[in-house]
Amino acid sequence: MDYDSLEKKFEQYTSSIIDTCHNEHKIAMEFKKIHSQKVAEIAFNISQYIFQFPEHKDYARICGLFHDVSRFVQLREYGTFIDSKSFDHGDMSAKIVGENKWLESLPEADLKAILHAIKYHNKLEIPQVEDELTMHLSQIIRDADKIESMISIAEYYSDNDAEKSSAIEMSLPDNEDVSPEVLESLRNFKMVDYSTIKTLNDFKLLKISWVFDINYPISYAFLLDSKCLEKMFSTIKNPSEELSQLVAMAIGYAEANASL
Ligand SMILES: [Fe+2]
Repeated sequence: MDYDSLEKKFEQYTSSIIDTCHNEHKIAMEFKKIHSQKVAEIAFNISQYIFQFPEHKDYARICGLFHDVSRFVQLREYGTFIDSKSFDHGDMSAKIVGENKWLESLPEADLKAILHAIKYHNKLEIPQVEDELTMHLSQIIRDADKIESMISIAEYYSDNDAEKSSAIEMSLPDNEDVSPEVLESLRNFKMVDYSTIKTLNDFKLLKISWVFDINYPISYAFLLDSKCLEKMFSTIKNPSEELSQLVAMAIGYAEANASL
């Protein structure tokens, strides 16, 4: 499998959509494109510690590159990244990869594992999976996706000059409030539920709470190395004493689970 040629296909496919989309969506789409490329690299780095065979490490990178490939059509056709207002983007990304026959030279079982991992990347939990390859690809891609998103969102809000995009911002009020449900999730070492967030502070804390759903010790090590949790916290408006302690606990949780 030639990864460079797949990257070219990804580039052609996404550019063809970006060229024909509404101007106001272009920044968000470029952001998604960079996200996909970075997730591919992070997945590849994690896979070095999980897989023995080089082709499996490439599969992890391929899953990263294509996991969000339906986001471009989603934004162009529906004007939103919200799945409930459009389609399930994990299912649709797997469908697009299958229909375009980008991976048709792969053995059937391996192709199936890749498509399933793409499909499962955005589900609340990975369903009971059939085999080890599918399970590891699913876990790697979920870790890489979360790590990249946490790093880039932390950078986005730290950088005052960054071009702002409403598709990324989710139009949440930027005040100092934190919802009680969000605090309760952090107290219980649980991921914050999207449906409970009401402010930009909540959204940033939701991202921090993803630390509670990472699969591999090596993923925790990469996450801590990026310092994105500290960076994200530094952009939170007027944190209370309790909130500061809860975020310190979340970072401590990552440290306790990390290894090289
Ligand atoms: Fe996604």
